[in-house]
Amino acid sequence: MFSILSRAELAGAMFVLIFSWIASGKAAKLVYAGTAERMHRKARKQLVWAIYASVPAAVSIAAVVLMLPSLDPVFWEDRAYAHLPLLIVPLAGVWALAVPRLWRLWRSTGAGRAAQDSAVLREKAAHPLVVVPFQALALSAATLFYVYLFTPSAPVRPLSLLLPAAILALAIYGLWLRNSRIGRTIGQAGDLARHRRLRRLRALGLYGAAVGIAVALIFVGMNASKPPATLNMSEGPMDFGGGTVLSHDPAKATSVAMLTGPREGKPDRTFIVTAREATATLASGKQVDAWTYGGTIPGTELRMKQGELVEVTLVNEDIEDGVTIHWHGLDVPNAEDGVAGATQDAVLPGEKHVYRFVAEQAGTFWYHSHQVSQEAVDKGLFGPLIVEPADADAAEQDVVVLTHIWDNAGVAIGANDGVERKRIAPGTPVRIRLINTDDWVRQRYTLVGTPFQVAAIDGTDLNGPQTIENARVELTTGGRADLTFVMPDRPVYLAVGSGNKLGVLLSPDGEGDVPGMPKTSLFDPLHYGEPASTPIHAGSDFDREFEMVLDNKFGFYNGTFNSLYTINGEVFPNTPMYMVQEGDLVKTTIYNRGEVDHPMHLHGHHMLVLSRNGEASDGSPWWSDTLDVLPGDTYEVAFVADNPGLWMDHCHNLTHAVVGMSMHLMYEGVTSPYEIGSATRNHPE
Ligand code: C2O
Ligand code: CU
Repeated sequence: MFSILSRAELAGAMFVLIFSWIASGKAAKLVYAGTAERMHRKARKQLVWAIYASVPAAVSIAAVVLMLPSLDPVFWEDRAYAHLPLLIVPLAGVWALAVPRLWRLWRSTGAGRAAQDSAVLREKAAHPLVVVPFQALALSAATLFYVYLFTPSAPVRPLSLLLPAAILALAIYGLWLRNSRIGRTIGQAGDLARHRRLRRLRALGLYGAAVGIAVALIFVGMNASKPPATLNMSEGPMDFGGGTVLSHDPAKATSVAMLTGPREGKPDRTFIVTAREATATLASGKQVDAWTYGGTIPGTELRMKQGELVEVTLVNEDIEDGVTIHWHGLDVPNAEDGVAGATQDAVLPGEKHVYRFVAEQAGTFWYHSHQVSQEAVDKGLFGPLIVEPADADAAEQDVVVLTHIWDNAGVAIGANDGVERKRIAPGTPVRIRLINTDDWVRQRYTLVGTPFQVAAIDGTDLNGPQTIENARVELTTGGRADLTFVMPDRPVYLAVGSGNKLGVLLSPDGEGDVPGMPKTSLFDPLHYGEPASTPIHAGSDFDREFEMVLDNKFGFYNGTFNSLYTINGEVFPNTPMYMVQEGDLVKTTIYNRGEVDHPMHLHGHHMLVLSRNGEASDGSPWWSDTLDVLPGDTYEVAFVADNPGLWMDHCHNLTHAVVGMSMHLMYEGVTSPYEIGSATRNHPE
């Protein structure tokens, strides 16, 4: 609903702009009609143009009004306080001032009327109150688009509206003066042709000046959007979420580099992961020029048991841009988090880096590079990361379904881009671990042939999951879910996407046909499973409450004109970081008032979903690390600040993160020795 209304609002305004622009050109030319008969026709047409401009304006206004009762002000405050006046005031001017005059002009020039002095007629047609209201509407609509594109939408910042409002008022005043002069002189001046020429010349001059100013503004904007040469992420604008103001006392500061996992002790499990370029081949024979961990796509599966001390040595053989490893969803100590420029330096060709941590949570995760992550993940620098429970059921069969869209080769499950068949004996407990590693497409998974449970979301078990059937699970980019069932004595099929060309067929004999697709409904965790107690809940006494407003607009990023995805009206590094103290109970309200979904991923913590659009999450506790926030949605989430450090909080639609949809959570007293910026080798997104 929100999407429809926001689009209707915009489309309406767009047509107002076009129609009023045409109408104001025609209004200004009314005076050159020549004969009374032509004046009559033109006045009528002008009345029709007033209607043309008003209909889309009414649509636009109605769309905003419809938003008011059902949505939080975050979704409409800019529309109500800036867009509406920009349409309503000039529109009222058109109807109250211009239309009555046009009406009289039309009536007085009709057939059968007494012939009129053409000078008098011209004076009437050139009256500023006939022309200026149309021009004002056109300029106001243009201002609306300026405001929409270039000023922060929510919360509205009145100061950012002052300049466009002042320019608009001045421009209307200037038009008023100009039209008054035309009105005064044109009555007498016989030389209409000369007048017209002059008018054109002046208009040309005006347009020239406007284009000049626009070019200058673009240039300034482009330069201002260039990232600094060096930037330390532990410094910058801060947001305290309404809680106590925190300071950085350098004497008490802890460096991110100190917040490591256990550096001593013999690891229970060691891995060596070598990053290198490789041409990998999918099952169909399609080749992919990939960046890999270990020469394969996806990278080697890293499997471990809960509670084990794990040591991973990352070696960069030849990835020019550098690599890291981030353990997506696994809450490790900050120095092991693998974000270039935040928790370590990018590992350049010929270098290595050792990660050590205890795998505290059992569940389904994945790992990926967090250096030029948009490109790195797109090209293959990722793999599955599975932490088995310490007391794992030895009989359980694990089926990892990691999906990714490969450039020029399409979707695949692992390296399998067709239907894969697996033999599983009836009676075997099965766990399908779904992982979507794509960098911007939400994926759909349908399990056919057996009832099942959604046992876990984002690496966290759900409490008391009910058995469901004919449901599809959709995962956002970076999201995971575990589906469990006991193998029946007939084939079970997991379909990826909407067709039946890609999936995994499990059957007692490893053979069988892909079954037809039943009608399915979308699985929704909001009321699924049984409630259980949690360390934090909707009634907690929160130390800090943050607001995160997601939006999109056009603007400059990194020196180029881009579609921008903003958090609280800003892009990285201008979005203030969320400041917390260890032990804080934190609540964040996330609003998406943009046009596309944003999977928000907080590192180092799991967020408990409290509510969606005012509806409480009252099934199993729903912990998420990658929460897909759809347009028009509002989520309340909470987390306990129990993992000190500097933690990225960004959209996992990595094409959004790379143009600035990224911010971070910062603990009091933590500093970072690492830097990002154009003069460094660290580019986390
Ligand atoms: Cu999966 Cu900040 O990343
Ligand atoms: Cu996004």
